[in-house]
Amino acid sequence: MDYRTIVGQGPALSQVNADALLVVVTPELSATGAPELDALLKDAIAKADFALKAGRTLYVHRPQGVKAPRVVLSAAANGSPKGFRAAVAKGLAQLKDLGAAHVAVLTADGFALAVEHAQALVLAAADGTYVFRETKPSAPKPGALDKVTLVSTAEQNAAVKAGLAQGQAVAEGVTLARELGNLPGNYCTPTHLANQAKQLAKTYKHIKAEVLDRPALEKLKMGSFLSVTNGSAQPPKFIILRYEGASSKQAPVVLVGKGITFDTGGISLKPGAGMDEMKFDMGGAASVLGTFQAVAELKPKINLIGLIPTCENMPSGTATKPGDVVTSMSGQTIEVLNTDAEGRLILCDALTYAERFKPAAVIDIATLTGACVIALGHQHSGLFSADDALAQALLDAGTQTQDTAWRMPLDEEYGESLKSNFADLGNVGGREGGAITAAVFLSKFTKAYRWAHLDIAGSAWKSGGAKGGTGRPVSLLTQFVLNQAAAGADAIAPSKPATPRKAPGGKV
Ligand code: BES
Ligand code: MN
Ligand code: ZN
Repeated sequence: MDYRTIVGQGPALSQVNADALLVVVTPELSATGAPELDALLKDAIAKADFALKAGRTLYVHRPQGVKAPRVVLSAAANGSPKGFRAAVAKGLAQLKDLGAAHVAVLTADGFALAVEHAQALVLAAADGTYVFRETKPSAPKPGALDKVTLVSTAEQNAAVKAGLAQGQAVAEGVTLARELGNLPGNYCTPTHLANQAKQLAKTYKHIKAEVLDRPALEKLKMGSFLSVTNGSAQPPKFIILRYEGASSKQAPVVLVGKGITFDTGGISLKPGAGMDEMKFDMGGAASVLGTFQAVAELKPKINLIGLIPTCENMPSGTATKPGDVVTSMSGQTIEVLNTDAEGRLILCDALTYAERFKPAAVIDIATLTGACVIALGHQHSGLFSADDALAQALLDAGTQTQDTAWRMPLDEEYGESLKSNFADLGNVGGREGGAITAAVFLSKFTKAYRWAHLDIAGSAWKSGGAKGGTGRPVSLLTQFVLNQAAAGADAIAPSKPATPRKAPGGKV
């Protein structure tokens, strides 16, 4: 897809050269300044064929005095990037099965287009034209659309241009994550994920990839991670990605992604209905790979490490049994009370491994708990962190890219239920607050650095008719990394203590 911007305003808007015009209006801003388009808008509203209400669209064929042969009117709730994205998505859906190859998107006069709007447009277009073909070659080809032009004012033009470029890089990362999520378990094995990482390293000179096999993991004493792979015929892999965009002295941000390529539950076997969806259980890993791709395209001045523990969770005669006690790399022993709580078992060793990078911050991303889907649905990712500044930075990055997260509690008290008579920790608490106890379990392995956890069990994929991966939270993570790079060392600096600390001499 080709994305461009041109400058245009007022009467010139009805003469824009494209196969279709997509006109985005809001309840406050409903005139474009082009008489032909404004007459059309006014008439359509007067005749109740169109309303200035979010979600409403109207297709018009060969309207009078407009150069483009097709016009779609689309109403946004307001001028926010979120509203704009939804209106663009709706408008493009109207054009989907039509012959338009080049769509020009224009906004009502006074609409304040910024970087975020341009990025939102690219993500909406990429989302609307994505088709999974890898194991279904007969899937309908994406429509005719191959070029989108966003019309801006001279003042907005530079920001729009930057937003389109950033959006394109992010959209490619989102698509990679989505594609990997959709790929079935017999294609997307731990070895396949490792090959994807190596491919990224081959394509981008700023990325390096290293893959550790079982003997290296045994040497590292990753007993918790290895206990999950016991029942599987597929070899486990531990992927280490490095993006070097700043001086080697600068502490890196570390992203850790859960890479269970299929989660049967193990001996604590899941029910059969809907179990196919557990091929998405490597969504965290996919989001790390997608973010590395986007970051390598955008080249921010930052150091980034990606860690992906990846294996299958299978039942067999060699599988870990409920009650088995394993020793994690941290030295803490864990009683595996439920083999279906395997995500935390592979993540805890990766989180311990992360210490060696002396990270500025560590963020793990995991389809960790069904409880998180019950709590938040598919709208927001669950965000857990004891670090207010880091949490806020992640929430902000999510809002900026409409890839939102919602902060959840992380009180120590929730950890009571993780006590075990036979090990330092049990791997499950009760059913209640399940997403939180999972996060508290992980927190026991993150004492050496600033840490946040994203539970993406709901946000990384959709169920029902539109079943499939979403590529989330690549947008959030990439924006977070870009914001960190732009702000330098201050980006997520801890907030200043409320009371001044005593100086060594006793003076305040
Ligand atoms: N991969 C699942 C979590 C999941 C469930 C993701 C539904 C997406 C949709 C995870 O490994 C799991 O099985 N968690 C258990 C934990 C329980 C045994 C404490 C769960 O959520 O039921
Ligand atoms: Mn599980
Ligand atoms: Zn799982």
